[in-house]
Amino acid sequence: MEKLRVGIIGAGNIAQNAHLPVYQERKDVEVVAIADWNLERAQEAAKKFHIPHAYQNVEELLAAEEIDYVDICVWNRSHAPVAIAAAKAGKHILCEKPMAIDLEDALKMEAAIRKAGVQFMLAVPTRYSAEAQLLNQMRKEGKLGDIYYAKTANVRRRGTPIGWFTDTQKSGGGPVIDIGVHCIDRTWYLMGRPRPVRVSASTAYQIGNFKTKGVNRWTAMDSDVTAFDTEDSAAGVIHFENGATMLFEVSWALNAPPTEYTQICGTKAGATLNPLTIYGEDMDYLTDNRLTTLNPNIFDEEIGHFLNSLRTGAPVESPLEDGVTVQRMLQGIYDSARLGREVEI
Ligand SMILES: NC(=O)c1ccc[n+]([C@@H]2O[C@H](COP(=O)([O-])OP(=O)(O)OC[C@H]3O[C@@H](n4cnc5c(N)ncnc54)[C@H](O)[C@@H]3O)[C@@H](O)[C@H]2O)c1
Repeated sequence: MEKLRVGIIGAGNIAQNAHLPVYQERKDVEVVAIADWNLERAQEAAKKFHIPHAYQNVEELLAAEEIDYVDICVWNRSHAPVAIAAAKAGKHILCEKPMAIDLEDALKMEAAIRKAGVQFMLAVPTRYSAEAQLLNQMRKEGKLGDIYYAKTANVRRRGTPIGWFTDTQKSGGGPVIDIGVHCIDRTWYLMGRPRPVRVSASTAYQIGNFKTKGVNRWTAMDSDVTAFDTEDSAAGVIHFENGATMLFEVSWALNAPPTEYTQICGTKAGATLNPLTIYGEDMDYLTDNRLTTLNPNIFDEEIGHFLNSLRTGAPVESPLEDGVTVQRMLQGIYDSARLGREVEI
């Protein structure tokens, strides 16, 4: 099988700790180049992962290399310009979450990608876990009935990332856009992607730059950033055209027990992740069925899914239109919180 050729844009933490280790193991794809504004970082990553060429920006890489697609692993603010440059060069795109810092940028990306006719997949790995895929299949087969209610959370007690994440200029926002995107995206996907119509949400800026010791925090490679102007928690409700609702709660810092789950409730049964448990009835008794799956590396599943789509033309499970719709929900959350009222999406 001829290998697909990828250029990695961004040589930071997610590239080095999640994507590149997957590429190193796969036989169906070859990393031909890497680019980072910090050229030394790109060169170090190239050396460590045996990548032939390192560049300082996406334009140089696109001009010099024959590639099939770019894998975008840069700050949130850079997703749009990098994706638009790649689309203009006719390259397919795998893009880290969130799609963009705001809806305006996401729509610019959408226009450029549609014009170029290239493939786009949003990298939302929690959709690609074996448990989420199994639950989605059960929903599609009607085992849960109609989904009319969902609830999701990604609550950290003290887990604010260190670096550009807390600088709205670079990130677009705090836990809503950083980890809310994971749980809201997965829950909406598992609800069957109903059309969002209204959001009511609040954001809090209460705990800020804490000094708590003994807690784990994701540290961006660009960690010497001093701006700290993002929210530290948020909660709200999203209403959908089919009458369904989703409650959500997210935080980087909140005086509450940490939790991370998706719950969807249908007319026949409900389900929670993780672990995958189905709440149903059997012989007129309530049942709690725990399904056991193998749990392969979700980044490998995600990248493998994209490669398969490029080879076969099969649609991806997290396409461009989903990226834009999720961005509409995130934007609605921020708009509602800022205006202090429910907003239409
Ligand atoms: N899927 C997940 O679970 C997950 C986890 C962490 C981060 N992420 C996402 O990955 C992305 C990167 O996060 P990170 O933690 O690796 O950050 P990082 O700071 O470690 O790395 C980002 C790199 O991008 C480079 N960069 C920024 N803009 C650029 C541009 N236009 N051209 C070239 N290089 C540019 C920076 O120099 C830096 O080296 C973010 O979008 C983040 O949301 C996803």
